[in-house]
Amino acid sequence: MTAQLIDGAALARHWRQRVAERAAALAQRGHRPGLAVILVGDNPASQVYVRNKVKACGETGIHSVLETYPASLGEDALLARIAALNADPAIHGILVQLPLPAHLNAQRVIEAIAPQKDVDGFHVANAGALLVGQPALRPCTPLGCMKMLEHLGRTDLRGQHAVVVGRSNIVGKPMALLLLQAGATVTICHSGTADLARHTRQADILVAAVGKPRMIGADMVKPGAVVLDVGINRLPDGKLCGDVDFDAVREVAGWITPVPGGVGPMTIAMLLLNTVEAAERARS
Ligand code: GUN
Repeated sequence: MTAQLIDGAALARHWRQRVAERAAALAQRGHRPGLAVILVGDNPASQVYVRNKVKACGETGIHSVLETYPASLGEDALLARIAALNADPAIHGILVQLPLPAHLNAQRVIEAIAPQKDVDGFHVANAGALLVGQPALRPCTPLGCMKMLEHLGRTDLRGQHAVVVGRSNIVGKPMALLLLQAGATVTICHSGTADLARHTRQADILVAAVGKPRMIGADMVKPGAVVLDVGINRLPDGKLCGDVDFDAVREVAGWITPVPGGVGPMTIAMLLLNTVEAAERARS
């Protein structure tokens, strides 16, 4: 059996179109959605991500402001900028690209963002709201994964076993909570898990978010499973690959996301969706 591809790029186009319609409706009433993106330092991967986010805003009618600062920026200066953006009525979303230089306390910086403008969904208020099942801004990558499952008709996950490999605050933990909320039985695996394959082979839905190139092999996947690959790893030859051994696993899985062109484009689409939703809430 060869898995069917989940075309994240095509699904992201669909969502971007819907976001553009909502952004246009807001703009018509004089409330164009606005996103501020802050990049500190010169991490090359972050520079690419940030550029893509700003470009996507322009393509969907969202006003964006990119603020770049040298790695030497002090924490007080960064917190002051965030306070100013919190108070700016033209800005509905604030994103501080991670990782931050080591001298900056990332959690303190994130907590400085007004929760209603935290379009990454990383603020403890939004993380807590997700935990207790209240409406909140949800982290973009897990949200994009859920939209992919919905696209496959998997909205009610009762009776399905989801396994998340990775326990980060950005992906693993919120992903597990969203799957749980949708009714799945959820296992979270991580670097301390013994016999990882024993767990992953139970998965009807397998989410790989570990940052290790091709670590999920065909022998770790249940035949027919939905495999969502969050990893974006650069190989020594410069090519990108996921956390899943795509060529091998596609012979076993039922559905699989490619890298690139899978989860990545959905992450950006969900950032746009969160921004337009934050703008709608600010106006209602
Ligand atoms: N670094 C890697 N992924 C992300 C993300 O989704 N948001 C931010 N702000 N930084 C990141």
